[in-house]
Amino acid sequence: MTGSVPAIRTICCIGAGYVGGPTMAVIADRCPGVQVTVVDLNAERIAAWNDADLSRLPVYEPGLDAVVGRCRGRNLFFSTEVEAGIAAADMVFLSVNTPTKTKGLGAGQASDLRWVEASARSVAAHAQGHTIVVEKSTLPVRTAATVQAILQAAQGEAECKTFSVLSNPEFLAEGTAVPDLEQPDRVLIGGDDPQAIEALASVYAHWVPEDRILRTNLWSSELSKLTANAFLAQRISSINSIAAFCESTGADVREVARAIGTDSRIGPKFLQAGPGFGGSCFQKDILNLVYLCGHYGLHEVAAYWQSVVDLNAWQQHRIARLVVNNLFGTVTGKRLAVLGFAFKADTNDTRDAPAIRICRDLLEEGADLAIYDPKVAPEQIARDLGMAPSASSSGLTGEGRWQLAGSVHDAVCSADAVLILTEWQAFRQLSWPELAPQMRQPAWVFDARAVVDPEQVRAAGLRLWRVGDGNIG
Ligand code: NAD
Ligand code: UDX
Repeated sequence: MTGSVPAIRTICCIGAGYVGGPTMAVIADRCPGVQVTVVDLNAERIAAWNDADLSRLPVYEPGLDAVVGRCRGRNLFFSTEVEAGIAAADMVFLSVNTPTKTKGLGAGQASDLRWVEASARSVAAHAQGHTIVVEKSTLPVRTAATVQAILQAAQGEAECKTFSVLSNPEFLAEGTAVPDLEQPDRVLIGGDDPQAIEALASVYAHWVPEDRILRTNLWSSELSKLTANAFLAQRISSINSIAAFCESTGADVREVARAIGTDSRIGPKFLQAGPGFGGSCFQKDILNLVYLCGHYGLHEVAAYWQSVVDLNAWQQHRIARLVVNNLFGTVTGKRLAVLGFAFKADTNDTRDAPAIRICRDLLEEGADLAIYDPKVAPEQIARDLGMAPSASSSGLTGEGRWQLAGSVHDAVCSADAVLILTEWQAFRQLSWPELAPQMRQPAWVFDARAVVDPEQVRAAGLRLWRVGDGNIG
């Protein structure tokens, strides 16, 4: 493509997930002149995006219902008609899932690119005229070469088709997706076709200041996304390592975080100790980085990043272990109230949630878990734990069981301990004087998110462990 910057009138996004849905909703909202169609093979998901009741959208994000409500049916559409969506589009975003491979070459580390390849092949088959293809998924560096190869094969077969490939990774965090998209720190566009880059930049220019739109080559853009997630996750593993040290030495990790965070070179963000990072991105993307480093023979670099993931798993096992140790060395048959199952507050997403590993460890120890989360569906918890509610454990060797609790009060009733695993706002305001008498004494609160008021918990006669707090015990 040579000449002027192509005007973008129609956008198709393949993948109506946590990224595709919110990202396209904000683009449609900010660019009323652009028709945006989000397509997905998952008919149930598309039906949920089209649900008249906006509280039933498949992705829970504060503020998303209002954005979708403003644009849906105007210039935002959700459809299962993938081919038609591609054929009509000037620009196609690939926003499909890229999970860690579970089988074959690179299993446990490399990203599974089957959905990226399938969607690139759909674009190759059904695109018309000139199409700008934008990698929105997080991808291993140099994936654009694969996408280009697939598209070029189609270009060779039909002269009327041409393509440009861009990388435009997404930096939104779940729970704050709408504000992250509306006021991004930056938008990153990697490519080697200046017209295509400017065409995408002109979409974002509707609401993103020009100095926040960064342009790089394709490989820098792809690698920047993996690097950003690796750096963020590394900070969490670093502060969690210090949290454990605080617990052994009488220091308080929040005081340490404040002391180091005021150094402008370090900064205050992402220094909150907790049950380890969860979510669909951090672990997956670091493992992918580890795999790529190994592939290029950079084994020391691979080992460095692997340690960030290992420390995270250790923190989760450590929390399960300390629960058992404090409950007189056994939780078999004991009722434990688990408050929060989502990987962070303000999302219904449980992918790689710390609660999964911690609950599985406790089930293995024979615990009877009463799980309450305000947004996560019970079927999702059953899938994550690999067992139905009230069934004795199937995939696990222990005799533990779990049940869903309809409220905090139901979960806590008769429990020996409360474990707080997600920082939902409501858990900051629990009335311990009311909850404590419902529990079997001596009872514990294990606060992995440091959301409770320690004075109030102790005044209610409960024993308390708080992540990174060496002053209590
Ligand atoms: P997701 O699993 O929620 O959604 C992906 C969707 O793509 C699914 O609904 C699936 O049915 C659909 N899909 C897969 N193959 C398809 C095909 N060939 N045709 C049509 N639809 C197809 O995933 P997500 O969380 O939205 O993540 C998407 C990508 O964005 C991943 O690469 C992820 O790493 C990256 N990312 C995610 C986040 C996040 O917070 N979740 C943030 C930044 C980047
Ligand atoms: C992350 C990146 O932040 C985002 O830029 C990228 O696009 C996708 O991956 P997300 O996983 O949605 O976003 O949420 P994030 O806020 O980064 O939290 C990830 C995990 O780290 C959560 O489990 C959270 O509880 C944990 N976390 C975060 C901490 O334990 N401490 C912190 O200080 C911050």
